[in-house]
Amino acid sequence: MSKNIRVERLSGTALQQYIPELARLRIEVFYDFPYLYAGDINYEKKYLQTYIDCPESVIVIAFDDDKVVGASTAIPMKFETDELKRPFIENAYNLDDVFYCSESVLDKNYRGYGIGVRFFEHREAHAQDLGGFKHITFCCVERPADHPRRPADYVPLDQFWNKRGYVKHPELKTTYSWKDLDDTEETPKPMTFWLKHDR
Ligand SMILES: CC(C)(COP(=O)(O)OP(=O)(O)OC[C@H]1O[C@@H](n2cnc3c(N)ncnc32)[C@H](O)[C@@H]1OP(=O)(O)O)[C@@H](O)C(=O)NCCC(=O)NCCS
Repeated sequence: MSKNIRVERLSGTALQQYIPELARLRIEVFYDFPYLYAGDINYEKKYLQTYIDCPESVIVIAFDDDKVVGASTAIPMKFETDELKRPFIENAYNLDDVFYCSESVLDKNYRGYGIGVRFFEHREAHAQDLGGFKHITFCCVERPADHPRRPADYVPLDQFWNKRGYVKHPELKTTYSWKDLDDTEETPKPMTFWLKHDR
């Protein structure tokens, strides 16, 4: 497959036109283990609108020609939900110091080309441009090792994140609710944060 990939940082109304494609991609990628997300288009639109409405957020989009093949989101932690802020407040962080890299999704056909690294670089550059952050963070869902939907060849992203300079902080835990493939309603999932101290 010939690929003409470009990765761009977008904010605000410039993103509006991409909402349907971004929602489709998120539902497709997060269907897989460990997310197992039973996609909900209304949840997606609400999620993406938060980023579009916040002038300090960023969405990084990977295009192949004009096709959206990947996306990555980030926002200062102070604008996030109470459940995400809670562990930082309980552990005596100043929320103004924390920049939150929320999610990355990439079409399977485009993995292994360095786009995931570019997603981190763009989000960290955005945090630098905003200025004033001491910590960059993201969180990861914890699934039991014997989860019935865990693929035999599943490789966690821990090494990828370590290599980008992030360290797992087991003291920073929260829950995040969504509807699993096997659920009839939303249930809270345990999430653990990873942290990198900014320059
Ligand atoms: C996470 C994701 C965006 C990474 O994208 P990618 O473009 O394939 O990653 P890159 O090509 O930039 O890989 C960078 C490095 O990480 C390694 N890597 C990538 N995915 C990996 C994995 N699943 N396990 C171990 N290492 C991995 C690559 O080998 C590469 O290593 P190198 O620097 O030594 O060459 C992509 O795998 C994805 O969309 N996954 C599903 C959704 C997800 O888990 N999102 C993250 C949490 S929200």
